[in-house]
Amino acid sequence: MSMQAERTLPPNLKAAPFFGPLKAINEDFAQFLLDSTRQYGDAYTFTIANQRIFVFNHPDTIRDVLQNWETFRKAPIHKEARHSGLGHFLGAGLLSNDGDFWKSQRKLIQPSFHAQYIRNYADTMVHYTQQLLNQWRAGDVREIEHDMMQLTLNIATKSLFNVEVDYYDDLADAITGMQHESVKILKSPMKLPHWMPTLQNMKIKRLNRVVDKIIYDIIETRQKSGDFEHGDLLSMLMQAQDEHGNGMSKQQLRDEVITLFVAGHETTALTLSWLFYLLAKNPQVQQRLHDEIDATLGKRTITLDDLKKLPYLNMVIDETLRLYPVGWLFVRFAAQDTRIGDYDIKTGNLILMSPYVLHRDARHYPNPDQFDPERFNEENRKSISKYAYLPFGGGPRVCIGNSFAMMELQIAVATIAQHYQLELIPNQQIEPEPLVTMRPKYGIHMRLVARQSV
Ligand code: HEM
Repeated sequence: MSMQAERTLPPNLKAAPFFGPLKAINEDFAQFLLDSTRQYGDAYTFTIANQRIFVFNHPDTIRDVLQNWETFRKAPIHKEARHSGLGHFLGAGLLSNDGDFWKSQRKLIQPSFHAQYIRNYADTMVHYTQQLLNQWRAGDVREIEHDMMQLTLNIATKSLFNVEVDYYDDLADAITGMQHESVKILKSPMKLPHWMPTLQNMKIKRLNRVVDKIIYDIIETRQKSGDFEHGDLLSMLMQAQDEHGNGMSKQQLRDEVITLFVAGHETTALTLSWLFYLLAKNPQVQQRLHDEIDATLGKRTITLDDLKKLPYLNMVIDETLRLYPVGWLFVRFAAQDTRIGDYDIKTGNLILMSPYVLHRDARHYPNPDQFDPERFNEENRKSISKYAYLPFGGGPRVCIGNSFAMMELQIAVATIAQHYQLELIPNQQIEPEPLVTMRPKYGIHMRLVARQSV
């Protein structure tokens, strides 16, 4: 008789054989997780095509998975993608690397994100927000996600590369082109192999060449001149060295800057879009925010010192990131057999954890669908446990751009709200679409109303 104990598993989700809940996942992944968690609780499992998948929703379990970066690795999906044209584009940067290589790269890059350096990008953030305001006219109707994407794209390009304008447009165009292609591929039901000379694959190849050429040119010019003082993230990374005095190769530099670019600009743009949407839906919150901004800034340009004088603004940002954590799904796979809580995890099992689901859990956030920045006032914030609020992830792989993003959100929102109130155009359908990030499926159309006060 075998003495081996039965494998302990959480409840198994009822679903069709073989493909499991794939249909529901394809329809709306976030909603599927929300519904299943309400039905099955904080831990459950299902299989798709013999792949076992765990879903965890308890803050303690999520903490255990996120902290153990050596056992729970980024899903192998990233690695397969690396061989495709899209994979080449993203390369092997912080977001997708694993194990010791990830650890040493993180150590190398982390100092460039120290608060003292991040502060240097404040002027860039103010400048491009003001540039956007110069394009706006009172009464205009704008698709707000598009405008916010343009804004964060400008800020990212300048902060990362600080390059000349002619270069800059080509680079920004190629990178956005690449991101459009990735969304198209994600959405398309049929995936053709990357080596087939389809129109799309040829386009991806061409865009890759443009991006590589521009970035390698910038790196080589700097290496030749020996001048690294460009006041941008690339120059910080070019000077970064490990304890043996080794820096990054040209290709590694390219992969890391592209990764920062991709990880940073869209997430911030989408958060800004959801924030203005939520403000328009909640006029009392909007009024209080305007009052704070008027009292603290009036119409003068925001400075770094102002950031700590706008507590309500921070509460609004935190509450937006609760309802719409745009990095809405964390995926890990077990690199070895292990246990989490009472459950046995086998090598290769996938783990899903969603801050979107966690943040809409009434046990942590009473009346969870309501937008209420007061949840994050000084007093209430104390009762939210650390791993129940994860808009930037947690553990060693927490978002490296967290402070950069917060500063960008503060500056952009305050500067825009000094001048405009954004009103929702009636009768439009606004729905979150959970792809890699959570975006408004049909965009968000808003009318610009000039603010008269002050
Ligand atoms: C509101 C804006 C942002 C949100 C909501 C966000 C969210 C996240 C989340 C949830 C993760 C962890 C994912 C996981 O554990 O699976 C992450 C990782 C990461 N983020 Fe952000 N992010 C934002 C802005 C930025 C910015 C501005 C940058 C760069 C300038 C950036 C760079 C990265 C990188 C490189 C990682 C991977 C870190 C690692 O694994 O070591 N993010 N982000």
